[in-house]
Amino acid sequence: MAIIAMTVNDKPVEIDVADRTLLIHVLRDHLRLTGAHVGCDTSQCGACTVHLDGRAVKSCSILAAQANGAKIVTVEGLAQGETLHPMQAAFHEEHGLQCGFCTPGMIMTAIDIVNRHGRPDEATVRAELEGNLCRCTGYHNIVKAVIAGAAKMEAAQ
Ligand code: FES
Ligand code: FES
Repeated sequence: MAIIAMTVNDKPVEIDVADRTLLIHVLRDHLRLTGAHVGCDTSQCGACTVHLDGRAVKSCSILAAQANGAKIVTVEGLAQGETLHPMQAAFHEEHGLQCGFCTPGMIMTAIDIVNRHGRPDEATVRAELEGNLCRCTGYHNIVKAVIAGAAKMEAAQ
């Protein structure tokens, strides 16, 4: 067992978990933050993506112990009260989802893309989304949403 101390969505968290516990299981099972999904459990689909110290990571591929001392943000931590994060609003407006299963991971990755690329072009968005799979295969609107979200994020600065 190990005591893990981290900040999750701006709240300090301390939790005693088995050494092999994955970050996704701490978030979902211990903290009841079920926005990050488990799609594959083999680090392929990106449905479990969260931000660790500002970078998008697949939380099924990280031990909770590796997040000790880190700042974690999940999709639940993006909105400010009733106001959606600009990228969430863009996914809503551009219909960037079908069943929605992949959407939390897509949004967390999309924000990371914009943080690194500013206003990415379509080719960059498609290349950067390589690690996020959508089983509904609605990539066209997802790409549009990321590009629109980038503009919204810039306008919100
Ligand atoms: S559940 Fe983590 S990448 Fe698929
Ligand atoms: S919207 Fe259904 S998996 Fe992507």
